[in-house]
Amino acid sequence: MSSINLTHTDFSQQSGYIKKIREIINADLAAGKRRNACVVTYGCQQNEADSERIAGMLCEMGYTLVKTEADADIIVVNTCAVRDHAEKRALSITGGYKHLKENNPDLIIGVGGCMVSKEDMSEKIKHSYPYIDFVFGTGKLHSLPQIIHTVMDKDRRVFAPNGDDLTVAEGVPVSRESSYRAWVSIMYGCNNFCTYCIVPYVRGRERSRRPEDIIDEVRGLVASGYKEITLLGQNVNSYGKEFREECDFADLIERICEIDGDYIIRFMSSHPKDATKKLIDTMAKNKHVARQFHLPLQSGSDALLKKMNRRYDMAQYTELIDYMREKMPDIAISTDFIVGFPGETEEDFSATLDAVKKIRYDMLFTFIYSKRTGTPAAAMEDQIPDDIKSERFSRLLSAQEPIAEEINKTYIGKTVRVLCEGESKNNPDKLTGRNDGNKIVLFDGDKSLEGKFVNVKITDAAAFALYGEIEG
Ligand code: SAM
Ligand code: SF4
Ligand code: F3S
Repeated sequence: MSSINLTHTDFSQQSGYIKKIREIINADLAAGKRRNACVVTYGCQQNEADSERIAGMLCEMGYTLVKTEADADIIVVNTCAVRDHAEKRALSITGGYKHLKENNPDLIIGVGGCMVSKEDMSEKIKHSYPYIDFVFGTGKLHSLPQIIHTVMDKDRRVFAPNGDDLTVAEGVPVSRESSYRAWVSIMYGCNNFCTYCIVPYVRGRERSRRPEDIIDEVRGLVASGYKEITLLGQNVNSYGKEFREECDFADLIERICEIDGDYIIRFMSSHPKDATKKLIDTMAKNKHVARQFHLPLQSGSDALLKKMNRRYDMAQYTELIDYMREKMPDIAISTDFIVGFPGETEEDFSATLDAVKKIRYDMLFTFIYSKRTGTPAAAMEDQIPDDIKSERFSRLLSAQEPIAEEINKTYIGKTVRVLCEGESKNNPDKLTGRNDGNKIVLFDGDKSLEGKFVNVKITDAAAFALYGEIEG
């Protein structure tokens, strides 16, 4: 694992292709035809961050971004493979684009992301989806201009799954969805090989961006008025392990927090085997770091954690949680659980319920185990029947709901700082936002507050939201 062949490249290598595509698009524009691009995203925050880079490159090429596929001259789908459902959905949506291509033969369709990073899926698309023009794995994202230029200029289909490419590309343009909340990927890939998980196979080995590149990006974001910056990695706690010069994740946070400004830093995800007390101490002394910690447990049973290859046990996990709460009593803690991992007994599942009751999380992200071909767990005996998985899943949700409600009710009467995200989609009469602990807060106010920090006095609380009134 230690000797990866990592290279840092500069995106300027692609500028020649961008220029050539822009010439084609500008010629169309001069003839009165605007070229539109639509980016469709599935999956986690890393994919959202990647999609903002895909959109950034398309804008540099001269495309105008649109929200609807039917209005687009180029569609790029950024896919997820973490669960079977995500993959099926991406395939069926992509399948639906066939008729768009029939109506508009000039339409260019590309599929990227985790689902097509492996050679076999890229081959499947090549043979079974003839209307797809190009495929690019997560490690080939920065080569998009070259790929699109080949499709346009040579009228050729391009298939670029990941291969052994371990490049970290700097300077890729970004078109961010928000003007006040930003994703910043600090590293790519994963070395952990949890036995259920496809991510290491589709995202490749861990590689970190240089600290100075990350700090420059964050400084630029703060200077442009960004208020919430989320540092992303599959396991941020192993950040920088491949550097000869010491800069671990806690050091990186420390250096970022030296940037002056009114902003908060969040990060995800942390692997409990690598989360350190040093990181918790660094958080505790830096007010820029949000009082929120996402620490995926996956199962409360030591036996199952071992089968999952998580490399920690409940005793180590709870020690970390206790230390966190000792140093930051107001911290909000969330986790991920998988229900129905192969061989999960009723006793194992009870241990998960016990962990939920003992640790008392603010929020849970719960997943029904999904078999991923190629992972060790897919070949394990004792796969759990669907009805048992669903029944345990409901019991887990029922165990958490009253706990979340009780914790949230302790906020009544307190004032919290909220980054306003504008009108609530589910409740358009209210504004919505998130407090430091990443809890949803609903309140009355003018939508011009979007993107600003406001103080909200909490007057009511439910399991999934706090309600309040603006103060001052
Ligand atoms: N790297 C992150 C970590 O370790 O916390 C998370 C990555 S994964 C995208 C997010 C969550 O998906 C995991 O924490 C796990 O709970 C869930 N997950 C991963 N593989 C899964 C599978 N095969 N079936 C169900 N859930 C899965
Ligand atoms: Fe998957 Fe485990 Fe890596 Fe997270 S740490 S991405 S769960 S293999
Ligand atoms: Fe994320 Fe899905 Fe890939 S969860 S890392 S987009 S497999």
